[in-house]
Amino acid sequence: MLFRLSDEPANVPAAVAAIQAETERLGFSMASEPKTGALLRVLAATKPAGRFLELGTGTGLATAWLLDGMDAEARLTSVDRDADVMQVAQQHLGHDPRVSFWLGDGEAFLEQEQAPFDLIFADAWAGKFNHLDRALDLVKPGGIYFIDDLLPQPNWPDDHPPKVERLVKELERRADFTMVKLDWASGLMALVRRRQQL
Ligand SMILES: C[S@@+](CC[C@H](N)C(=O)[O-])C[C@H]1O[C@@H](n2cnc3c(N)ncnc32)[C@H](O)[C@@H]1O
Repeated sequence: MLFRLSDEPANVPAAVAAIQAETERLGFSMASEPKTGALLRVLAATKPAGRFLELGTGTGLATAWLLDGMDAEARLTSVDRDADVMQVAQQHLGHDPRVSFWLGDGEAFLEQEQAPFDLIFADAWAGKFNHLDRALDLVKPGGIYFIDDLLPQPNWPDDHPPKVERLVKELERRADFTMVKLDWASGLMALVRRRQQL
């Protein structure tokens, strides 16, 4: 019999089912999928005592996966300008002292932030389609910049595909990062800042 490797995530974090139910109740259609979360959890676990940033909390699905990979000393800031969706994340994850929620524009957050991060999950317009260079500047050497939704999604407006194409090309030009593109989940890209330019 041919062995088939299932890529469905195992050991889903406890909070995910309740957040998913609330996400559906709210009709929030931009939530991250479990495979993206599972990869983020693995990446989070590579950064003991790491400093993490999520741009675009939504209802907190990826937040839950990131927290599940982080150790006790690691810290995550999650940013969103929509109080209604962020409230779901706060309700289910706010008891965890490792996470802080920042309500406001991602652009403003990026402009005022000084200290670099071990991992940035850029899942909002800010830090992805605008303020990209600023977000990349805030990645530590050896740190990770991670994005999803690079494959066509049902909720994309007609003018979105060329923006995604431009973003991928722009990231590919960055000699100060090494990168991988994954035709998996919603379409993923992970970049790691090189310590030195080759
Ligand atoms: C794709 S969803 C985030 C999904 C979430 N990361 C998850 O794992 O389910 C994008 C979120 O970014 C927020 N957002 C979009 N542009 C923003 C901006 N410029 N500043 C802050 N939040 C923004 C939206 O309110 C929305 O909740």
